[in-house]
Amino acid sequence: GSELPALADAHGIGLGVAVAVNPLVHDDDYQNVVTGNYTSVTAENTMKWQYVQPERYEFDWSGPDAVVGFAGRNGLDVRGHTLLWHNQQPAWLSEGSWTEAELLGVMREHMDALMGRYQGRITTWDVINEPLVDGGPGLRENLWYQVLGEDYIAEALRMAHEVDPDARLYINEFGIEGAGDKADALHELVTGLLDRGVPLHGIGFQGHFVHGAVPEDMAEQMRRYSDLGLDVTVSELDVRIPEPAEPEQLEEQAREYQRVVEACLDVPTCVNVTVWGVSDHHSWIPDWFPGYTDALPFDDSYRPKPALGGMVQAL
Ligand code: XIL
Repeated sequence: GSELPALADAHGIGLGVAVAVNPLVHDDDYQNVVTGNYTSVTAENTMKWQYVQPERYEFDWSGPDAVVGFAGRNGLDVRGHTLLWHNQQPAWLSEGSWTEAELLGVMREHMDALMGRYQGRITTWDVINEPLVDGGPGLRENLWYQVLGEDYIAEALRMAHEVDPDARLYINEFGIEGAGDKADALHELVTGLLDRGVPLHGIGFQGHFVHGAVPEDMAEQMRRYSDLGLDVTVSELDVRIPEPAEPEQLEEQAREYQRVVEACLDVPTCVNVTVWGVSDHHSWIPDWFPGYTDALPFDDSYRPKPALGGMVQAL
């Protein structure tokens, strides 16, 4: 392990990692990286709708229970990820034809089941994931939007608040980490929700970055939400490098990780920085961004990389 958990505690922030169920249960080295370096976990996949409710009314709690159980035994917090998202939905949901009332019922059943099961143990939920179109600034016309209209966001947040009044409710988004139309569109959406009294407590800045293009103004963007009284989190940090990653690039990447953690410390209500995977071996990057590699603070063999030192440096 490293001094990261103690340093994060001393600064009053959480430092998290996205975890996959199989290695979390079966791989000691994987477990040791998690418990030795982080203070919170996010389920990388297993709490997504597709896995939690693969068929209507058929819930599979094996993965979520494993993650929450591991966290509990090791004193780690859990970020709940995620309730409404256009990806990784089961076919019965995405291909169903729904009336408004039916879809609100389905939403409620899912929240009751998932938030209810972990009430008190998962106190932060990404209620809305990626509400804006990839390039921004428009709202994404996902299933929820198509059936319920743009108000689906407010309705989902109100519903989640009813289900668990103590949970911190987030909108999680990417491409908003630096100034731009998409960042402004999210800010406008959020101020509109708050003006209407919609329960919303935090904004997740995903932070899937390309090496050399980590925005300089991330703290400024996050502070806009602090100013509104909201928490912010860097929820899915990784910094991908074109293959092959050279030693020099790994050193530069360390400064980028450092800069992101420093940005969080510079923002009064930034509560957590979470990296999106335990090691480069488990990272989603090579699958989703062919030709890119080495995005995380631990290498394929669980050896710490310069990026880990960058985070230590920031703290
Ligand atoms: C990714 C996972 O890392 C992959 O394993 C999965 O195949 C697809 O989803 N934004 C999110 C995360 O909010 O849930 C995504 O996670 C990455 C992008």
